[in-house]
Amino acid sequence: ALVTTTEMFKKAYEGGYAIGAFNVNNMEIIQGITEAAKEENAPLILQVSAGARKYAKHAYLVKLVEAALIDTDLPIALHLDHGDSFEICKSCIDGGFTSVMIDGSQHSFEDNIKLTKQVVEYAHAHGCVVEGELGKLAGVEDDVNVSAEDASYTRPEEVQEFVSRTGVDSLAIAIGTSHGAFKFKPGQKPQLRFDILKEVEKLLPNFPIVLHGASSVIPKYVETINACGGKLDDAIGIPEEMLREAASMAVCKINIDSDLRLALTAGIREHFTSHPEHFDPRQYLSPARDNIRDLVRHKLVNVLGCNGKA
Ligand code: G3H
Ligand code: 13P
Ligand code: ZN
Ligand code: NA
Repeated sequence: ALVTTTEMFKKAYEGGYAIGAFNVNNMEIIQGITEAAKEENAPLILQVSAGARKYAKHAYLVKLVEAALIDTDLPIALHLDHGDSFEICKSCIDGGFTSVMIDGSQHSFEDNIKLTKQVVEYAHAHGCVVEGELGKLAGVEDDVNVSAEDASYTRPEEVQEFVSRTGVDSLAIAIGTSHGAFKFKPGQKPQLRFDILKEVEKLLPNFPIVLHGASSVIPKYVETINACGGKLDDAIGIPEEMLREAASMAVCKINIDSDLRLALTAGIREHFTSHPEHFDPRQYLSPARDNIRDLVRHKLVNVLGCNGKA
């Protein structure tokens, strides 16, 4: 059966590693990820966004993840990524998810607390855990000037009150990561505010922290895409050594979506470049799925450190 993240986060915190939370949208992505986790005996979080639910439909994703459970026998949590309302969280809790994120980071501190608390009460009454968020991740289009960026980082002085008043089980914080494949401007030095993470860790001992927007945007895949007809200029991610450092600290969940998209797309483009005559989806989706598996194995072993921890 699916599990919550409680046990995995406890072990990850104590062991100084992190669990990978991978976004899933279809069968090939789920199979690639779970095959890697099976080979590495790693616990897994499979997460579904509102957009993924719209694309693939709730029931298909739940059933595909259930199929992965039959196939692997691993501890797997099924998580709602970036729920923006009580209703979508309730729908996922009622529909078999074991974890939900209520992302109230766009609201005021008080409104974020109110909304998050409402979700926590319902979730806990139904055996489900909740991730909240404090601070705003820089958006891809944000014209970042230093002061605007500064204002959006998580304020460590707020975390204790947020966690105690809401009862959340984990907390996503903003320390300089961002969503998508263009996290830093060309020439800009990638940086994360480890000082904020350390402060949060001190104020909230033993509490699992989540990092969103944590793809590395692996150059190998970007280069393949561009060499095979794609056009991704200046795609830049979070350096792996920074993620390893975060994983050794209070960060227990690292969210990865963009890297999966890049690996899948690179596999498909590369296949079509060498086999323009192919049109059977199995021909081009097989190498794409293999790319996902290889990427996830690399993450589990070399970035997250959760291999062998299932
Ligand atoms: O945080 C966003 C995730 O990458 C999911 O993206 O909303 O396009 O499915 P999506
Ligand atoms: P990336 O875009 O860096 O993969 O982040 C994914 C994420 O945070 C999903 O919630
Ligand atoms: Zn996210
Ligand atoms: Na950790």
